[in-house]
Amino acid sequence: MEPFDLDDDTLLAAHDPSEMFGALYGLPEQLEEAVRLMKHTGAIFDASLVQTIVITGLGGSAVGGDMLRTYAGDKCPVPILVNRSYTLPSYVGKDTLVIAVSYSGNTEETLSAYADAKARGAQIVAITAGGHLKKQAWRDGHPVITVPGGLQPRAAAGYLFIPQLILLQQAGLLPNATAEIEETLRLLREMRKLLAPQAQTEQNLAKQIARKLYGKIPLIHGAAGLTEAIAYRWKTQLNENAQTPAFAHCYPELNHNEIVGFDVPQELIEKLEIITLTCSRHHSRVQKRIEITGGEVLADAACGQTELKALGESDLAQMFSLLYVGDYASSYLAVLYGLDPTPVEKIELLKQRLTDVP
Ligand code: F6R
Repeated sequence: MEPFDLDDDTLLAAHDPSEMFGALYGLPEQLEEAVRLMKHTGAIFDASLVQTIVITGLGGSAVGGDMLRTYAGDKCPVPILVNRSYTLPSYVGKDTLVIAVSYSGNTEETLSAYADAKARGAQIVAITAGGHLKKQAWRDGHPVITVPGGLQPRAAAGYLFIPQLILLQQAGLLPNATAEIEETLRLLREMRKLLAPQAQTEQNLAKQIARKLYGKIPLIHGAAGLTEAIAYRWKTQLNENAQTPAFAHCYPELNHNEIVGFDVPQELIEKLEIITLTCSRHHSRVQKRIEITGGEVLADAACGQTELKALGESDLAQMFSLLYVGDYASSYLAVLYGLDPTPVEKIELLKQRLTDVP
């Protein structure tokens, strides 16, 4: 039995002094604002030179890149890589577009990767709310897309994803996504009515999932393609919002290793809850794999299993619908554990310690 009643408004407010739930509610407006921001950007890099795209960033600032990579997989003529390190792959050069993303603008790995991109003569676009990244990119004459600040980076997924999407669209590297964005906005506005704190647990899928995950270790399963990035997003949101361990893997790869690991130790397997994220765009064989894995191969496993279907039609709407449920569910789970979903003290401590060490 969990200690908090998620339908008790006063308790919820007491555990959310930094208003994570307010930020979540505002996701549709954030997406809209990001679209507005990009309205007059025009062509800010030479697409004719671009043979590869590298998006470099960490944590909440890498999520938009992951989403873009999976979304663009069957649409973009050039490969997209998401880089989460101090340096860039050796192939990066003049024919690479490097999108450096750091919400704070002060993440040392991203600043180092930015310097690497600059040294190799890559075309660079920075996306940030400020900090050193903004200053350095301005000083070096590279275009900067400045997004509104004041949020946790992981709560700024709309600000960090949409500019990348529109940037590539404007350059002719992705098809026009206006209709998909509009569908996503409509869908998220509908969804939040039943995901926000005012919606009672019986109707609120995110509260129900949080209750299911209480006292458990979540294993999030997505599939190569659209839900892969979202499964990883769920994992990191569970880590950062609910401050709990969580793991992500994806089909079909998990059929070749992870499914064997549900036998021992039984008492720990009982503590696992698999959440499988599905969407209508999976490869038909992947859909079969999901059904056989849950229904037969793991039918007797001691862990819990839940399937969550994406809503909406378009790729974008389906991705964001699953992301939205995970963002809310991980925040409710924090509250169930008596925690504030916003602060990430361990990340801040580590960053601080690293600034002390040359
Ligand atoms: C905190 C968060 C972190 C940061 C990461 C990189 O909310 O999501 O994962 O995103 O530490 O920092 P930024 O995003 O400022 O480059």
